[in-house]
Amino acid sequence: MTAMPRRRFLAAAAGTVAAGSASGRLLARAPVPTSALQTRPPLVVSTWPFGQPANEAALAAIKSGASGLDAIERGIHVTESDASNPSVGLSGIPNADGRVQLDACIMSGPGHKAGAVGAVEGFRHPISIARRVMETTRHVFLVGQGAMDFAAAEGMERGPVVSDGQKAAWEKWRAAQAKAKSEKKGHDTIAMVALLADGNLFGGCSTSGLGYKLPGRVGDSPIIGSGLYVDNEFGAAGATGIGENVMRYCGSFLVVEYIRQGLHPQDACLETIRRIAKMDPKGFDLSINFVAIDKQGRYGAAGTGSGFQYSVTCDEFSRVLSSPGLTAKDVGPTGGNQPK
Ligand code: GLY
Repeated sequence: MTAMPRRRFLAAAAGTVAAGSASGRLLARAPVPTSALQTRPPLVVSTWPFGQPANEAALAAIKSGASGLDAIERGIHVTESDASNPSVGLSGIPNADGRVQLDACIMSGPGHKAGAVGAVEGFRHPISIARRVMETTRHVFLVGQGAMDFAAAEGMERGPVVSDGQKAAWEKWRAAQAKAKSEKKGHDTIAMVALLADGNLFGGCSTSGLGYKLPGRVGDSPIIGSGLYVDNEFGAAGATGIGENVMRYCGSFLVVEYIRQGLHPQDACLETIRRIAKMDPKGFDLSINFVAIDKQGRYGAAGTGSGFQYSVTCDEFSRVLSSPGLTAKDVGPTGGNQPK
């Protein structure tokens, strides 16, 4: 009998990995024990089930010899290009003015480099603009018109300001505003972190942000330390959920700080949420979630509610896992922006 690889054995022994789906994708039924959450790099971890094809593109890039930054960029392009995704890229839910404003950031562990853009309209790949800011300017963060002028000057790919489907939904929403006060639309972000075989860490984050947000609103996603943080010596983390509840606490930085103190990435996510909830007047009613990896190939995630799912891809498997939640409130497999 062929020996089962140790990591796969651990997951199977924990009884948490369902039979493979038709696509060969695996879905955990319940949170996997922390002890099983480790693998050999290269390793790519991202938020939500929609991160899985993005992870797979990132891993394929790594295996073809691309750099860690190329891998993050190519992976996040998959989500930014997915016309069915209502929370990342130009298919995202627009702001209150009916325009999609995109936020993104990217970080390189080596050199501790970062680039970010906020409130960018009409460009397909904000992650690539963020990378260009990092690599070609002496700045970290460009926003609004300045970021768009920069993207245009760099010849970045353009797209519609809002998709036809989202425009129709926005028109309905606007009509309803006349009758009722703001229905808040949720949102989900792709935050991706990667550990390469050489031990270097990288990360990226991209979102269209909160649906029907005030024009000019920027969430946590492009803010280094909030939506994403990479410390090449210890680990990396990214966030999804209501940005206002992450950015007031530098959430991703805090996760990495707990990893630096020796916690397993999953415990670091849990501890971050506990600490934020302890300080916040809303307690655990925050709708925030984190994913994290460390230098040893350990990975994990956690959310304020139950059922936040994240995607983990390495040489041996590509899986969607359920993370532990701090409350019973159901997050569901798709988060806020999906039709209910
Ligand atoms: N977490 C994404 C946002 O709040 O915009």
